[in-house]
Amino acid sequence: MRVLVLGAGGQLGKDLLTALAVSGHEAIGAARSDVDVTDTSQVRAALTRGHPDRVVNCAAYTRVDQAESEPELAFAINRDGAGVVAGACAEAGVPLCHISTDFVFGQAVEGTPRPWRTTDDPEPQGVYAKSKREGEVACQEMGGPLYLVRTSWLYGNRGPNFPLAILRAAAARRELRVVSDQVGAPTWTRDLSTAICWLISTPHLGIHHLCGQGATTWYEFARATLEEVGIQARIEPVSTADWGAAAPRPRYSVLDNSRFLELGGPALAEWRSELRDYLGSERDGAVRAALSGA
Ligand SMILES: NC(=O)c1ccc[n+]([C@@H]2O[C@H](COP(=O)([O-])OP(=O)(O)OC[C@H]3O[C@@H](n4cnc5c(N)ncnc54)[C@H](OP(=O)(O)O)[C@@H]3O)[C@@H](O)[C@H]2O)c1
Repeated sequence: MRVLVLGAGGQLGKDLLTALAVSGHEAIGAARSDVDVTDTSQVRAALTRGHPDRVVNCAAYTRVDQAESEPELAFAINRDGAGVVAGACAEAGVPLCHISTDFVFGQAVEGTPRPWRTTDDPEPQGVYAKSKREGEVACQEMGGPLYLVRTSWLYGNRGPNFPLAILRAAAARRELRVVSDQVGAPTWTRDLSTAICWLISTPHLGIHHLCGQGATTWYEFARATLEEVGIQARIEPVSTADWGAAAPRPRYSVLDNSRFLELGGPALAEWRSELRDYLGSERDGAVRAALSGA
């Protein structure tokens, strides 16, 4: 299969190109400088040039807090750009895999929370979350064949990402304060990419939730990162309110992967073992660079 990956310069895009090649697919990567997803003529031209069998849209505006002060840009990329890509794919009859986020879910979890199902109603909070949700709707409205993949708390090869930021801060002996009352599922882009490769080879369209197994807090995620690398550093747990980020975030955003697993998709590993494998694989690469302040 020939697969056009948009947003190929990002964390997920890079790992997806590798996973596609490993799975025997022909991957065509288009970074932002090659194809701007907000430009209809560029997107159409990429489809005409590449004749792909599938398109995966990894392009996004992902600066969650900054989005609060530049909503026009976030909506232009995450909503309008998603619609441009979905429209061009629908015109060309090419199935699209669009990547979305756990942040489309809201705060309203009463009692003991359970992982969000693909059938649950989104209730996005904040500009980034709303722009991503409206992007999902824009894709659905175009009416073409659509795999809609929601994932969470991504980290991957080049970053910037949370584990590398923690290592950099610990190495610089900066005070580590990490939010301890938001629960989610960290996901390694390498494992996610393998799952996406499988999914787009199947006829199973619709919404899929794909994240590392289990659940944790940012605080425990930070502690686990330091433990895996063998670094001693004090981390202070802080509440969401005390942290005071610009954008609201769901208190609980774990996704329920069961639809994907019932369809026979390859399970993503448990988050802690994914993290161990990621940090091990990057010991002489991104991890060393983060610890040396690079
Ligand atoms: N990161 C997470 O924790 C997380 C969690 C859940 C879901 N997601 C979703 O997963 C997907 C991949 O995220 P990621 O972590 O790989 O993000 P990323 O590293 O920020 O990559 C996004 C890529 O999109 C590119 N891009 C931005 N605007 C574009 C445009 N107008 N046209 C074409 N490309 C454009 C960016 O290029 P520039 O860098 O040049 O702007 C970047 O290379 C996104 O849909 C994101 O919303 C991410």
